[in-house]
Amino acid sequence: MKILVLNGPNLNLLGLREPDIYGPGDYAALTASIENWAAGLDVEVSCFQSNHEGALVDAIQAAYGVYDAIVINPAAYTHTSIAILDALKAVGLPAVEVHLTDPSRREPFRRISYTSLACEKTFAGLGFEGYHEALKYLAARK
Ligand code: DQA
Repeated sequence: MKILVLNGPNLNLLGLREPDIYGPGDYAALTASIENWAAGLDVEVSCFQSNHEGALVDAIQAAYGVYDAIVINPAAYTHTSIAILDALKAVGLPAVEVHLTDPSRREPFRRISYTSLACEKTFAGLGFEGYHEALKYLAARK
């Protein structure tokens, strides 16, 4: 099984970015954890991060026929991007949304998730472990 893990804007700055909210681990530590978890689940994984909405749309489109499922933390685009929602719907791959924090317990503008409308599940507020839960869910689903 091949899973594409997408991370949206500012997640490349993990470690530096508001560590009191997002924790001390950097993006390299996140991808290393994801790769370890994937290996344990016998899943082939690729990680891609972009600060650009269109690049994330392109990656979702390119996943069609190549990957079996998508894990996505759209970051701020969660709350704004109909384009990412439409791309996820267009390719129709099983998708799971992940958030390091629990947006429903933060500012009101984080309470809407457009992208979750195209996702089977959301894991929020679990830190890096949310990506592990998403991989386990998709691996068990195959
Ligand atoms: C986030 C939550 C979003 O509201 C925020 O814009 C992010 C990160 C999270 O992982 O908790 O950039 O997706």
